[in-house]
Amino acid sequence: MKVIHDNISRRRFLSSGFMTFGLGFGMGTLLLRFFQFLTPVRKERRFEEILIGTVSEIPEDGVKAIEIADNKLFILREEDGFVAFSRRCTDLGCLVNWDGAKRRFVCPCHKGIYDIKGKNIAGPPPRPLERFPVVVKGKNMYLRVSVA
Ligand code: FES
Repeated sequence: MKVIHDNISRRRFLSSGFMTFGLGFGMGTLLLRFFQFLTPVRKERRFEEILIGTVSEIPEDGVKAIEIADNKLFILREEDGFVAFSRRCTDLGCLVNWDGAKRRFVCPCHKGIYDIKGKNIAGPPPRPLERFPVVVKGKNMYLRVSVA
């Protein structure tokens, strides 16, 4: 009889030991996941610079149209450097043109108009043209684009 009692007791001891270990492990994992949720890992944005030409290619009071991987852009000289605008209209995606006389971008599809900063100022476009920074290194210009 004593042997049976010892076996039951040992079985209970081992069973409760495994349960305690399992419960503790589970709670620890939950707590770890909870704290990871509270402090998300910040991914640094990475940028790539694509050579788009030389500074001398951009007229003093004009723009230069370029195409990179099926993206049509205008490069424009600003007071403090250069900037690139997507030529894709933010209304329905037609290609905007540069109106040099009035120094603005005009969409031929529904007569949307953007100012020299790419801001939508007339017509149906709901937001400014997409803008990309241009970095100058020596005589060369690079388009700065974020990569995933
Ligand atoms: S697509 Fe440009 S104004 Fe409509």
